[in-house]
Order: sequence, then C-alpha cells, then structure tokens
Amino acid sequence: MYNLEGKYAVVTGCGKGIGACIVKRFLEGGAAGVAMLEYDEELVKNTAAELDPEVTRTLPIRCDVSNGEMVRDAIAKALEKFGTIDVLVNNAGITRDSMFHKMTEAQWDSVLNVNLKSMFYTCKEVIPVMRAKNYGKIVNISSVSALGNVGQANYAASKAAIQGLTFTLAKENGPKNITVNAVAPGYIATDMLKAVPENIQEAWKKEIPLRRFSDPMELANVVYFLSTDESSWITGQCIYASGGRLI
Ligand SMILES: NC(=O)c1ccc[n+]([C@@H]2O[C@H](COP(=O)([O-])OP(=O)(O)OC[C@H]3O[C@@H](n4cnc5c(N)ncnc54)[C@H](O)[C@@H]3O)[C@@H](O)[C@H]2O)c1
Repeated sequence: MYNLEGKYAVVTGCGKGIGACIVKRFLEGGAAGVAMLEYDEELVKNTAAELDPEVTRTLPIRCDVSNGEMVRDAIAKALEKFGTIDVLVNNAGITRDSMFHKMTEAQWDSVLNVNLKSMFYTCKEVIPVMRAKNYGKIVNISSVSALGNVGQANYAASKAAIQGLTFTLAKENGPKNITVNAVAPGYIATDMLKAVPENIQEAWKKEIPLRRFSDPMELANVVYFLSTDESSWITGQCIYASGGRLI
C-alpha cells in the first residue's frame, strides 16, 4: 500500500477548496508534516486546526505566493521545522475573467503572477533541496482551460505555461530522481466554480460524460498518487482529471 509516511510536503493555496483536500489526503496518507502556504491567515489557521487538531503535523503559514520574499521566508520556515521537503504541490490559483478585448493589464498581471510566477518562486527554493537529496515529487495544478476558454485568456495562458514549465522541470530534474507532473482539473465543486452563474454551470455539466462536477477530494486523490512512490515511473505528464470532458 502506498503512502507518504515520513515525507514532508509543501502545499500552496490550501486554506480551502482543492488545496485543503490535498492536505487532508496527505495527512490521511501518513505525511510527517505539511507546510500550508496560504494568502488568508485566518482561513489557513482554521483549516489546519480542523484537519490536524493538535497542529503537530501541519505548519500553517500566511504567504502570498506571488510575492517572492514571502515565498522565500515561508520555505525557510518549513525547512526550519521539518528539516527537508520531499513533495511540493503548487496549487494556489485565481481567476480574473474578462473577454480579452476588455481585459485590463491588472487582471492579466494578477493571474499570471499568482498562477505562474508563484511556481518560479517555490521551485527556485525547493528544487535545490530536492536535488541535494536526490529525491522529490512536484505536482503543479494546471486546468482544462489551458486548451483555451472564452473569457479566460489570462488564466488559460497561465495554465498552459504551467504545463511547459512542468515538462521542462521534469527533463532537467529527472536525473536527480525528481518527478514533476501536472494535473489539469475540469470543473471541481469549489468556491471558484460557485462564482459561475448557475445556468452556465448546468450547460457545462451536459458536456461532461460523467454528467457532474467533481468533488475536490477526487482531485486530491490524483495529486496524492503523483506524490507517492507508486507513481515513480510517471514524470513530465499532465493528467486531465475532468470526468472525460475532453474526449
Ligand atoms: N475549481 C475548479 O473547477 C478548477 C478547475 C481547474 C483548475 N483549478 C485550479 O485548482 C487550484 C485550486 O482551485 P480551487 O478551486 O480550490 O480554488 P479556491 O478559490 O476554492 O481556493 C484557492 C485557495 O488559494 C488561495 N490563494 C489565492 N491566491 C493566493 C495567493 N496569492 N497566495 C496564496 N494562496 C492564495 C485562496 O485563498 C484559497 O484558499 C487553482 O490553481 C485553480 O486554478 C480549479
């Protein structure tokens, strides 16, 4: 049976939604410690206390992942507490939707900075740790929108770039026994999806062979598999977890 016993992880954007479910799954899988990097301080403290009542295996950290200095501080705190990092999940993401001809530079920059540049910051800090120990698992959260979605030019560009980053880091770090994969979710029932009008949600469900949205735990299970040694032969892949929407 695969598990994360003895492993230390960093998960970003995990106050709620998919990220919180990933932390839950990692703790269920026996992870020795999970650093929770999250923008909303109160939310991350409450979520950590809920998932890990004694807060012995979680380390909630207030961190805006689009801020390089905050990321460097947060990873330093994780290393100080845990001594090492085995797994990095880059999950934090936002949307600022608009038709491209109406999109502002601020909408473009905020989405690219939170969704993509954040991975530059986290990977810069964590990859040297993993290379030094000849072991690591990195999972980056992309999206089905990487293939293009009306009103999401900024988001789609960030999510497609994440795949290019993933494939390149997999090539560069494979010789150091580090796997780097992406997961591209489609329509997961979180607050991000609840922001979409109901009539559009109903139309989207009809496009999904499984005819429903995913529970975020179903996504967490995919990330969990890619974070364990049972996925040791998988690297440089993007798994589209979308209820079959793209077939
Ligand atoms: N929900 C979906 O249908 C769906 C589909 C495809 C991809 N995704 C991707 O999955 C990931 C998680 O999405 P979700 O649905 O759980 O979203 P969510 O909005 O429910 O949760 C996102 C979490 O990230 C945190 N966050 C936002 N900006 C941050 C920042 N700058 N620094 C640190 N933390 C920050 C938020 O506070 C929140 O806790 C995102 O990358 C998203 O793009 C979601």
